[in-house]
Amino acid sequence: MYPALDKELETFERRTPKSAEAHKKNLKRIPLGVASNYRAYDPYPIFVQEGKGGKFRDLDGNEYIDHNLCFGAVMAGHCHPAVMSAVEKRLSTGTMFGMPHNMEWELAEEICTRFPVEMCRFGNSGTEVTMHCVRLARAATGRDKIIKFEGGYHGLHDAALVSVKPHPPGDDFGDIKNPKAVSGGMGVPKASIANVQIATFNDLETVERRFRENPDEIAAIILEPIMMNVGLCLPQKGFLEGLRELCDKNGALLIFDEVKTGAKLGWAGASEYFGVTPDMICLAKSIGGGFPLAAFGTHKRVMQLISDHKVFHGGTYNTNPVSMAAGLAMFREVLTRANYAHTDKLSAKLTEGYRKIVAKSGLQAYVASAGVNGALMLYPAEIKNYRDWLAIDVDLWRHYWFGMVNRGVMPQPYWWDEQWTISVQHTEADIDQHLAAFADIADSLATAQHERMGAVAAH
Ligand SMILES: Cc1ncc(COP(=O)(O)O)c(C=O)c1O
Repeated sequence: MYPALDKELETFERRTPKSAEAHKKNLKRIPLGVASNYRAYDPYPIFVQEGKGGKFRDLDGNEYIDHNLCFGAVMAGHCHPAVMSAVEKRLSTGTMFGMPHNMEWELAEEICTRFPVEMCRFGNSGTEVTMHCVRLARAATGRDKIIKFEGGYHGLHDAALVSVKPHPPGDDFGDIKNPKAVSGGMGVPKASIANVQIATFNDLETVERRFRENPDEIAAIILEPIMMNVGLCLPQKGFLEGLRELCDKNGALLIFDEVKTGAKLGWAGASEYFGVTPDMICLAKSIGGGFPLAAFGTHKRVMQLISDHKVFHGGTYNTNPVSMAAGLAMFREVLTRANYAHTDKLSAKLTEGYRKIVAKSGLQAYVASAGVNGALMLYPAEIKNYRDWLAIDVDLWRHYWFGMVNRGVMPQPYWWDEQWTISVQHTEADIDQHLAAFADIADSLATAQHERMGAVAAH
């Protein structure tokens, strides 16, 4: 730590005593005092009271412009009127039946016209749909192994929790040209880990190597087309196309985990944005407008395995009418071309504004941006993979985050692997306030960075 960061933390603690108190209470009954490990941070997390539009208020009454938006799951913004009205209507007509209803084909139709898939099934979380896609791919190919990228996050099931945080990086990650499969935490069976072949993002050679080493054994490659749990790491030119070719050549399926990018990159997600068509798409987060809703889609011939009862898919909460009403409102009234034009404009304004402030302050950083997402990347040059991302100066990042929070802007979720989300309800004024807060702390960040780099150089 260093004095400027200490000062921001002191201010944070002075502004948020009720969160500290609430967290203490939670700790007695709930591990880490939070419901998801990602919500825990030092000294304690902010406890929320309420949210509306692009803002929320904490227990102490502090107001924040919200670019966390539930880890990017509420591109609609809080309480979007179209979503609220659709949901309110459903709340008084039955919330769960476990029986089919008419909104199912309506939403399936919306998804299959927007994304390059012929059929889809629904679920409630990103974890669920990436799990079902992996299983379907295994069934469709008769192979057990998958390729995933080091650092890529696809949820919490056994096939996904490999070579991903929260495992501390260390020597056991192996050579970057031959990364090892490492458990993402205790309790993941060794047999599962053995079925996950790890490659390096933006490095096609490492992917080719995995196919070569495991001939006719790889069922699928799963990836986020933009790696969004290392800040924001874009695929280099030709990378996604190369993966498509390698899958075709080796009889494997290409799974785009679009849990984040599906809604937030643009009208039809990553396949439209990059012009590369996967075999399977996983959707969740922002398609539900603040309600648990997820979907996975693929070719008819692959879904036939579910129709033939060869692959099992089910779930009590699947297509519950409340989430489905929210999803329909999202596709028809929120994720519209007009709203994307609005958020694109705000995104350009925020990104350009950050770039100007970074340049003026002398901070060694760049600003990554795609669709409604973006991040201040505290690196001298663009990162290309998980290993590059590890070089972050965590204290400097904490200085940025707490500094912004103390100025009434939650610039992104806590954790330096995350990114900001702009909601359809944000306004130009919100972006101005966001930029003013950043301008207010940029010099202090730059000074701290130079001092810290000087100190490192001196050792
Ligand atoms: C790319 C990606 N895939 C899957 C998941 C898991 O989604 P969920 O938290 O809804 O299970 C996440 C969550 O952050 C994600 O970012």
